[in-house]
Amino acid sequence: MANSTITGKTTLVGLIGWPVEHSLSPAMHNAAFAQLGLDWAYVPLPVQPSNVRHALQGLAALNFVGVNVTVPHKQAVIRYMDELSDAARIIGAVNTIHLKDGRMLGYNTDAVGFLNSLLEAGCDPKGRRVSVLGAGGAARAVVFALCRAEADAVTVFNRTAERAAFLVDDLAEAFPDSRLAFAPLTSEALRQMDHHVDLVVNTTSVGMSPHPENCPWPEDVPIPNDATFCDLVYNPLETIFLARARLAGAATIDGLGMLVHQGAYAFQQWTGQQPNVEVMRRACMAGLKIDPQVTD
Ligand code: ATR
Repeated sequence: MANSTITGKTTLVGLIGWPVEHSLSPAMHNAAFAQLGLDWAYVPLPVQPSNVRHALQGLAALNFVGVNVTVPHKQAVIRYMDELSDAARIIGAVNTIHLKDGRMLGYNTDAVGFLNSLLEAGCDPKGRRVSVLGAGGAARAVVFALCRAEADAVTVFNRTAERAAFLVDDLAEAFPDSRLAFAPLTSEALRQMDHHVDLVVNTTSVGMSPHPENCPWPEDVPIPNDATFCDLVYNPLETIFLARARLAGAATIDGLGMLVHQGAYAFQQWTGQQPNVEVMRRACMAGLKIDPQVTD
């Protein structure tokens, strides 16, 4: 355990959220600190919504160097930041804070994490036509990343179509040259895009444990098997969405890459060093009880 190596000089980082006990981030970051021989530790910090401001003040007082921010605080912390990255401002959520020189810098590492997971899988979205399922916080980071990476066109499909419209309007303001559209997440709308898509990304929570039997892709819509299918869900690692795509002959990218790469980017911001992403990935897999032999 990493805490057996805590010394009088250990630098602290952590995770604020409510709840935080199921997070893989402590295992992932502590493994990377250990691998680099850094005297750093990452601790879970459960913070009730009513205590966000006090918690941030406490982090500064206790000389924490940084924290990740998870549900439900990603929007609530924004008002306390001294500076926001472009990604955090446009996405409207902070998932990483760097406490530096008495200031709080807010980042969103989900977008870069998503993009790096695509690139690692050999899927460069530049010039590609992309369909995004979902229009929540994760979808905002994904659409931001796709616009930044110069995707040719992005269509956002959501159960609540107005939310997709809102997301598209918002991002279109930040990326006036991007081709953005929205549609309801229905069989009919998905069928229409059948032959016009290179990449499909599920950002909804549909198919996530404890309901792995669900799938955001309707049964009655054929899978475009020349497209790549990416799921942000990583538990289970192969969702029904990805299994169906694989069986149809499509390429697939699971959600673990985004988790690991968003963590790696936060690690870099805090430490100034490049973590070993394979070490981080293995720590996550151990947390998910996945045998690396099986999934490699
Ligand atoms: P996150 O920050 O993880 O994106 P979120 O902001 O709560 O979480 O967004 C969840 C997304 O999953 C939304 O797009 C939501 O659709 P709605 O906007 O219509 O609520 C989508 N979602 C959740 N459950 C769903 C379901 N059973 N079927 C279809 N979409 C679902």
